[in-house]
This record gives sequence, structure tokens and C-alpha cells, in this order.
Amino acid sequence: MIQFLLNRELRTEQQLDPNVTVLNYLREHLGKPGTKEGCASGDCGACTVVVGELDTSEGRERIRYRTLNSCLTFVSSLHGKQLISVEDLKHQGQLHSVQQAMVDCHGSQCGFCTPGFVMSLFALQKNSNGYNKAETLEALAGNLCRCTGYRPIIDAAEQACCQKQPDQFDNAEAQTIAQLKAIAPLDTAELNSGDKRCLLPLTVADLADIYAANPQARLLAGGTDLALEVTQFHRELPVMIYVGHIESMKRIDINDETIEIGAATALSDCYSALAKDYPDFGELLHRFASLQIRNQGTLGGNIGNASPIGDAPPLLIALGAQIVLRKGNESRTLPLEDYFIDYKVTARQEAEFIEKIIVPRAQANRAFRAYKVSKRLDDDISAVCAAFNIEVLDGVVHSARIAFGGMAAIPKRAAACEAALNGAAWYPGVIEQACAALAEDFTPLSDFRASKEYRLLIAQNLLRKFFLEMQAPEVETRVTAYV
Ligand SMILES: Cc1cc2nc3c(=O)[nH]c(=O)nc-3n(C[C@H](O)[C@H](O)[C@H](O)COP(=O)(O)OP(=O)(O)OC[C@H]3O[C@@H](n4cnc5c(N)ncnc54)[C@H](O)[C@@H]3O)c2cc1C
Ligand code: FES
Ligand code: FES
Repeated sequence: MIQFLLNRELRTEQQLDPNVTVLNYLREHLGKPGTKEGCASGDCGACTVVVGELDTSEGRERIRYRTLNSCLTFVSSLHGKQLISVEDLKHQGQLHSVQQAMVDCHGSQCGFCTPGFVMSLFALQKNSNGYNKAETLEALAGNLCRCTGYRPIIDAAEQACCQKQPDQFDNAEAQTIAQLKAIAPLDTAELNSGDKRCLLPLTVADLADIYAANPQARLLAGGTDLALEVTQFHRELPVMIYVGHIESMKRIDINDETIEIGAATALSDCYSALAKDYPDFGELLHRFASLQIRNQGTLGGNIGNASPIGDAPPLLIALGAQIVLRKGNESRTLPLEDYFIDYKVTARQEAEFIEKIIVPRAQANRAFRAYKVSKRLDDDISAVCAAFNIEVLDGVVHSARIAFGGMAAIPKRAAACEAALNGAAWYPGVIEQACAALAEDFTPLSDFRASKEYRLLIAQNLLRKFFLEMQAPEVETRVTAYV
């Protein structure tokens, strides 16, 4: 059984197919068609809903509101949370102030994408103190308006943020917190329908036991990758284990030497921990998909899906990150670069899972830069992602760590390039030798994102760019490169 709040109403679900997305649940099971399906693949934002969760991180109880793509969220992950859809905003016959702003500023043109924009604006208003253009663009980057009418929508964001007043959600916050605490999960829950099951453990030990007993199960974190198997490939996932309720797997511990990030930590939550030490990691996370996907998708899922074009792995590999894998009561620590073996083949054993990711803290003597090259600045997957981590002492390169995504079947270190640099002078001629060595490291493929020739050339040019930026560190071009 799972329980959640549908706005303020307690819902209990026991016999529900765990493959049902929140979008289909709203539209088909509850007859609430306000939330729209545009793409069913996380790209358009028409299906955006807001999920409220109890947050005690700042020493007081409050509800944290975040946008999600309901097309990629399974209902099981709502357990213990509050689901708010566009139907819930109008109150006592009055439009919500974000809806009124959309009307006043003529922000609704086709109307189909409008509910998604409204929900993104609602979450923006809830999380902002006044209007901020950069925050607005970030909040709306995952909502596509095909008639290019963004200007009035941005105007609506400004009006909604500037004229923010307490709304029905603020007025009911104390009661909603009490309701959420009353349904907070206390033990492993389960949602099932016939043979199809989703298990929701609360502790790592329970996860290990349940996975050992169900080694054929698919681990579900944010679902931004896994749910595509259901929505795009029309497969059924008979057994899933949801890791999003395990608090220790959502924790970030920052020590003198390391940043330890639980595998189920949402990408949005990784930002502050990683961006402080590695500003380029922060920049990359800003350009990772959309806010909806970052609120939902996890760092562990980005490694777990073993995609050759995943953005975090090349950066983590260049930084020398390790992962802790657990199976039953046994844990082992593995350098992340040894996890990826071949296309979608990893070192993960049956019933083994990634528990946490260990990232070394920044060192004053090392320079780290990362670059994501994609066709669009926002909400796009990399054609090539590069990460450089080097120490140059008295003009000589020491222990270069260079990794690329999009250049091979796996995220991979550039061993020949590193060998050309290590022990050599940090000098343009050596950089050219290292660029030539990249052709030994990689034989990239052509696909709709980039041709193999382009990929190799851009990889070489990114090394040249890194070198030039190191000569003039005040130039901050960073990961903002795009085709
Ligand atoms: C529109 C869109 C845009 C995207 N943009 C980007 C982008 O810019 N950059 C990028 O890198 N990716 C992108 N992605 C891919 C995806 O969002 C990320 O890879 C995300 O980090 C996946 O995390 P998740 O928690 O949603 O994983 P899930 O979908 O829950 O899981 C992904 C895989 O990892 C496995 N898994 C999950 N947790 C664990 C664990 N703890 N241990 C072992 N295995 C585990 C799952 O079983 C599954 O096989 C995008 C996806 C979409 C839909
Ligand atoms: S329907 Fe397009 S993002 Fe969900
Ligand atoms: S208003 Fe819907 S596509 Fe532009």
C-alpha cells in the first residue's frame, strides 16, 4: 500500500500497476485532464506537476515544492508526498496569482503547453524571493513553447514573483505538514497489481535484502531514464525497487578529503555540494537536462544507466571519484572508471547496487575544467562532454586525468592523451601532440548528434581551449560551449 496527498486529500493505493505514470494516473484514473501529454519523454514540460515534500533541512519544518515531469514519474514514488496538479491552483473561484499573471501578460497562446508552464511558474514563485531573470529562465527551460511565445510567459513570471502573496498552500502549510507526517513511511511499502510489484524500502539494509531476494528487479531512482522503457518502448517492468525513500542514500557528507553523495540524491541537490569545490561541475549541472529532470533524476541513476553520453561520469572519472557498491552485507569500493566495461556493460554484479559516490575535495594545486557540447544550450544531451583535471608544477604537467563522454561506448579516460602530457612541458607543441594522441584513444561514432569527424575535432579543440584558458584563467568560458 502507498499513501500520498492529492493536494490536501489523502489517497491510498494498493492494487495499482506500478508501471502507471503520474500523468496517466491523473488523466485516466482520476479524470483530471488538465495535465497534458506532449512527448511522454521528458522533453516538453507539458506534463509538469509539482510535488511537495516535508523538508527539515533548515532547522524548521516546511514543504519543499519541486516540479517534475509526470510522464516519467511512477505513482509509487509519490508515497508520503503531496501531489499538486494544475486543477489544484484555482481556489474559491479565483485563479491562482500565477494563472492570473499568465492571463494578464497574454502568456497562453496554444494553451496545450500552458498547464506545464503554469506549474513551473507556481514552483518558481514558491521558491523565489522576488523576481530573478536567471532563475526564471532556469525554471522555464524544461517547458517548450513551440509558437515561441516566451516573452509574455517571462513577463508573467515577473508579475507572479513580484506580486507574490500568501496563497491557499501557504495558509494550509501547518495542516499539510501534519498530514504528511501522519503518512510518513515507517516501513517497506509495496504497490502491486497481479504479478507486477514495486517495493519501497526505507533503509539500505532492507534494499540489500529485497534486491537479493528479487535479483531480477529493476532499481528505480528518479525514473527519468527507466520510465522511458515504459513510455517510449511500451515495455512492462514487472518488479521494481524504488530507492528514493532511503534517507542515507540521499545524504551528502562533506569531509576534509571527500564529498560523499548518496546514490539517490537528486541532481538538483548535488549542485551546492559539487559547485563549491568545482564551479564547472555546477555549470554542467545547470545545463543537465531541465530543472524538472534534475529535481527527479539522481547521480546514482546517471551512473547506473551506463550511458556513453551521461554527463556526470566523465567529470567524476576525471576527478578520480569512487563508488561504493553494496550486495547483501558486503560493500566494495571501486574507481568509477573501472565500473564501465563496454556499452551498457558494467562491473555491477547481480543484486548489487550503487550506494554512494565519493568525490575527492578540490586541491589548490590542481585545475579542473569541464565542457559540454550540445546542439542546444538547455535541456539537451551532450554530443561530447570533456573533463580535464591536471596539476602543472614549474611548467611541467603532473598526473593529468582527462575523460570524455560521447567519444566511445563508455565514458572513458584518454590514456594516450594523458601519457603525452604527463611529465611534459605545459606548452603549445605538447598540447598538439596530446591532441594527436586523442585519435589513438578514441574512434567515435557518427549519429544524429554529431559525426565521428566532428566529435574527434571538438575533443581536440576542447583540449586546446582548456590549455588557452589555463594561460588566462580569468577567461571564464567553461561549460557554456555549444554547437
Ligand atoms: C529529457 C531528458 C533529458 C536528459 N538530459 C540529460 C543530460 O543532459 N545529461 C545526462 O547525463 N542525462 C540526461 N538524461 C538522462 C537521465 O535523466 C539521467 O541519466 C539521470 O541522472 C538518471 O537518473 P534517474 O535517477 O532518473 O535514473 P533512473 O531512471 O531511475 O535509473 C536509470 C538506471 O540506473 C539504474 N539505477 C538507478 N539507481 C541505481 C543505483 N543506486 N544503483 C545501481 N543502478 C541504479 C536503474 O535501474 C536504471 O537502469 C536526460 C533524460 C531525459 C528524459
Ligand atoms: S509529456 Fe513532454 S515532458 Fe512529459
Ligand atoms: S503557447 Fe503552447 S506552444 Fe506556445
